[in-house]
Amino acid sequence: METIFTSRGRPVFVLGGQAHNSTTYSAQDREVFWKALDALNANTAEIPVYWEALEPEEGKFDVSSVEMLFREARDHGKYLILLWFGTWKNGNMRYTPSWVKLDTGRFRRVISHEGNRLFVLSSHCDENRAADARAFAAFMGCCKTLNTDDTLLAVQVENEAGIAGRSYRDFSAEGQADYEKPVPGGLLDLIESQNDTELYSQWKGRGKRRGGNWGETFGIKEGSENLTAYSAASYIDKVAAAGKEVYDIPLYTNAALDGYVHGWNLAGTNYTGGGPIPRLYPIWKYAAPHLDLLAPDIYHNSLRLYHRICEQYSGEDNALFVPESGAGGAGNAKNMFYAIGTYGAIGYAVFGIEGLLAKDGKPDPRCRELLESFASVSAALPLLLKFRGTGKIRALVQEEFDEGCHYRTEKYIVKVDFTPNRMTNYIHRALEQEPSRGRGLIIQAGEDEFYLLGAGFTVSFAPGDDIFYSEDRITNHLPYLLVEEGYFDPSGKWITSRIRTGDECDHGLWVFAENRVVHCVVCP
Ligand code: DGJ
Repeated sequence: METIFTSRGRPVFVLGGQAHNSTTYSAQDREVFWKALDALNANTAEIPVYWEALEPEEGKFDVSSVEMLFREARDHGKYLILLWFGTWKNGNMRYTPSWVKLDTGRFRRVISHEGNRLFVLSSHCDENRAADARAFAAFMGCCKTLNTDDTLLAVQVENEAGIAGRSYRDFSAEGQADYEKPVPGGLLDLIESQNDTELYSQWKGRGKRRGGNWGETFGIKEGSENLTAYSAASYIDKVAAAGKEVYDIPLYTNAALDGYVHGWNLAGTNYTGGGPIPRLYPIWKYAAPHLDLLAPDIYHNSLRLYHRICEQYSGEDNALFVPESGAGGAGNAKNMFYAIGTYGAIGYAVFGIEGLLAKDGKPDPRCRELLESFASVSAALPLLLKFRGTGKIRALVQEEFDEGCHYRTEKYIVKVDFTPNRMTNYIHRALEQEPSRGRGLIIQAGEDEFYLLGAGFTVSFAPGDDIFYSEDRITNHLPYLLVEEGYFDPSGKWITSRIRTGDECDHGLWVFAENRVVHCVVCP
């Protein structure tokens, strides 16, 4: 699927940083946030707008926080993605206004199987949805007025929806009535067309029944969570539709994956039940057509999980966008190249970026690897957009004990060495630092032309016919017509910062974040 992020008619690759939850409220915290975005080389600020601040009294809207975020984003030269903290924030209702929190008769809650009232608004209650949709529409109206220069790229509708509390579904009268309704035939048609999913297995296990309620169709436990997903997705869809009617801008919602992906776990207890997690993805796609994307929050470093998540959220019906990922992790610093290179991500962001800076305002050395990865990607954004989906972008990651790898293009064997101690790097001081995992991207821009970015590897090119020792091939790698270091400026223009020749090319082209992007043309 194509990118959904554009500004002034041009596609934008979102390289983002997300603020901590309460940063919108604090000028002091926002100052750190904007600084951290610069340290991260991010082009986009992801920051929340709170329902409780927008509508402190029912029907009286205060848009000052939205105006302030637009103003500050412009002052700092960043795009914005605003996060609507409405009915859901991490599967409960923390950011709803007091008049919603206190009126439990009108704004009904999820009732657990034990009869407890949870701190989660019920998605089966029309009053809840109508109130949220009204507020969201007012917020979107404000965005429409303010977004004259396309500063705002997209809006996240709600945050990690679902039930965070001890229950698979809402057992209130309204929830029970919805549970007894037949599962929509259209949803079953979709499930039937994708017969390798868990939903299909559940349905098959119950005899592929049509016309049955949620328990009869999928099993009691499974059907309960499936209904929660259907109900939450339909609710968000109506909120999104109300917003799009006022202002048609890309909308997405994000998925809480913590806990769920670890294997056997209880919905609501170990993870936010009914959210847009991989198992429930088809239900969300079916019931929320007004959302442009479902976006995974990826805090996992495990390679197996990371690939599984990226695979689920990238494809014909969804472009991969990672709105949240871990700020500290060396795992994220390498895995993000898989998201971009292998799965064609249209954007990648880190959560809680204020923590990237130490008390003295300088980048925290513990975040070096992530900052390096972002710095190298930030220098090549036009290439990511241009070559996305063409098969010309390759992720290179040094997994445990990897020493190198190679692959073939039409003409060449591209050889990658991940062993920094063997790198001959006469100019840069990168080797004085602790070596980190080799990681990055190789982007093939033409038959003989390549861009290299990332950190901790060298690249050389050998002829694809494997004949190294014919008369003019005296080494095991080919010479170059051009090797230069540089970056793409915000207007998309390539800027050369250093030319390499001689020794600086003969031992493989070294790639470190401080080089930004290495551009080479091989002499065939
Ligand atoms: C995921 C949520 O979406 C964020 O708002 C934040 O709470 C993080 N988790 C904290 O890790």
